[in-house]
Amino acid sequence: MKRTAFLLPSLLMLAASLQATPAGAADAGADLAKAKTCMACHNVSRKVVGPAFQDVAKKYAGNPAAEALLATKIRKGGSGVWGPVPMPANPRVSESEAQTLARWVLQQR
Ligand code: HEC
Repeated sequence: MKRTAFLLPSLLMLAASLQATPAGAADAGADLAKAKTCMACHNVSRKVVGPAFQDVAKKYAGNPAAEALLATKIRKGGSGVWGPVPMPANPRVSESEAQTLARWVLQQR
């Protein structure tokens, strides 16, 4: 009995992590977002300092210019879209990294 109680949570976590990562590209985006400390201000499903990435993806759904727009904003920072709090510039993010991040954010729906 004791052993099942220990095994069950770890099995559930394994199942959850397998489900959450359907593609390698999603992994790369999530890892990059962590490495570049985006997740200090953002969460995929919940507003923190910045908007939830799911809300960002919904807002720009069907907008073909969104990836370029967000990649620029990720590097240069900006304000006024989600509220009064600005996003600071992220000079440690390269152009191609910003593109990967923008694409990943737009997939979070
Ligand atoms: C210091 C906190 C902070 C950090 C760190 C941060 N952000 Fe933001 N982010 C914000 C805030 C605040 C906004 C809302 C800005 C606005 O209203 O225009 C935002 C907005 C965004 C948006 C939506 C932009 C728009 O115009 O709709 C994206 C995409 C985004 N952030 C991605 C990132 C990524 C990727 C990183 C990591 C490289 C990152 N953020 C790091 C605070 C942060």
